Amino acid sequence: MAGLADVHVVILAAGQGTRMKSQLPKVLHRVGGRPMIEYALRAADVVFPSTTTLIVGHRADMIRDRLAERGNFHFALQEPQLGTAHAVQQAESHLAGRKGTVILLSGDVPLLKASTLRRLLETHKNAGAAATVVTAVVDRPYGYGRIVRTKGRIARIVEERDAAANVRKIREINSGIYAFDLAPLFDALRAIASQNTQGEYYLTDLVAIYRRRRLPVETLLVENAQEIRGINSRTELAEVSSIVRQTKNEELMAAGVTIVDPATTYIDSDVEIGADTVIHPGVVIEGHTRIGSACEIQGSVRIRDSEIADRVRINNFCLIIGARVAEGASVGPFAHLRPETAVGEGAKIGNFVELKKTTMGPGSKANHLAYLGDATIGANVNVGAGTITCNYDGERKHATIIEDGAFIGSDTQLIAPVRVGKGAYVGAGSSITEDVPAGALAIARGRQSNIEGWVARKKGKKGTPAKR
Ligand code: UD1
Ligand code: CA
Repeated sequence: MAGLADVHVVILAAGQGTRMKSQLPKVLHRVGGRPMIEYALRAADVVFPSTTTLIVGHRADMIRDRLAERGNFHFALQEPQLGTAHAVQQAESHLAGRKGTVILLSGDVPLLKASTLRRLLETHKNAGAAATVVTAVVDRPYGYGRIVRTKGRIARIVEERDAAANVRKIREINSGIYAFDLAPLFDALRAIASQNTQGEYYLTDLVAIYRRRRLPVETLLVENAQEIRGINSRTELAEVSSIVRQTKNEELMAAGVTIVDPATTYIDSDVEIGADTVIHPGVVIEGHTRIGSACEIQGSVRIRDSEIADRVRINNFCLIIGARVAEGASVGPFAHLRPETAVGEGAKIGNFVELKKTTMGPGSKANHLAYLGDATIGANVNVGAGTITCNYDGERKHATIIEDGAFIGSDTQLIAPVRVGKGAYVGAGSSITEDVPAGALAIARGRQSNIEGWVARKKGKKGTPAKR
């Protein structure tokens, strides 16, 4: 049963986000590597809501699919999308008969701090308000709803499009974040009309309605207006993303990571990095990547959804996606680690080497120019320059196994499925089609024949070579 202290979060995410000019719903655009909506969902968690409702409409299926794994909230469909007040009404059937407080968030305000939501709840409760509006004073209020006050108290909110010149000058804006007492909410929402320039049902009209009904309305002014910045366009997406990035870099530096040039370092919000790791300019670290301590990540490297252990060195210009690199290994320059690759402890992957779905055992080396795909490579193996696992027969992929201590000569093709046994040697330039027993030497290439005096005879036919 719902008690008085119950908190219910409602997040608005049904709008089309017209100004984004995108096929993708606005709240799925990424900020710091996470879909924008993820920030609202995480912020909501801090007030320990007994229910969380996400209002979806425009491309609802896509949002549902994307958030399917997340759980702990439920969807309400707003179809068609007739404005923010109409959006909140879609939560009515779910919240009917309950008591408590509704915290209302927008899906497009990712910088909102958890502490602000806690303060909102406190302010709202302490004031015994029916509604509390989070506001901020900004230099450029353009686009936001303005807070109109009479005798210091909030009287109404006027949207940019409907504001007269004197109201447009007001610099206190509506953040779109509110607390509402559940009891009078849905009845008051029914009193909202759509007589405005957009023909929409504005949630912001609720303030004037509450004042008329003598329901107390409070405001909570946030000091740092950055926090409530909404994203409506690609420019705002870039601006907010840059703030998220800067905050992430500062957090990492505070925790002991050296970032040589924060301005050119792009690290997604969910990335973890250990102390004493040095990140050079132009590095991009994305998704759920974890990097250990005392690593060196040289310039112009991109790492995504990967695990890098301690004391690893990633040299310049590497692309690492969905891979694991164990302690003390070294990768690059110009290496490409593709998904399901594991580089063992102290292993070395050198320049122009590509690994796909390949395990490289501890201490093994592929120092130059190789393609190793669907391969299981043991410990202390030496893979010569120009080695290629021919893993694809045009229809299927096949595995290559190279056991501990084997030595693969340069320019070898390993035609899979094939196995090179423990400690075996493969002569340079071989095309290996059959398994090589442990300890054996395999050579599979045309035998060399030297034809004595051939050059002189050839030139003799054509005439004497030119004098030097
Ligand atoms: C809204 C506020 C404005 C405030 C600003 C803060 C209104 C009328 N205006 O304006 O006062 O300053 O936020 O960022 O509320 N949505 C729906 N269904 C709809 C329409 C919108 O779910 O029918 C959702 C959107 O997906 C979005 C949120 O509501 O997450 C806000 O809508 P948006 O169109 O961005 O409103 P603003 O013009 O920014
Ligand atoms: Ca908005």
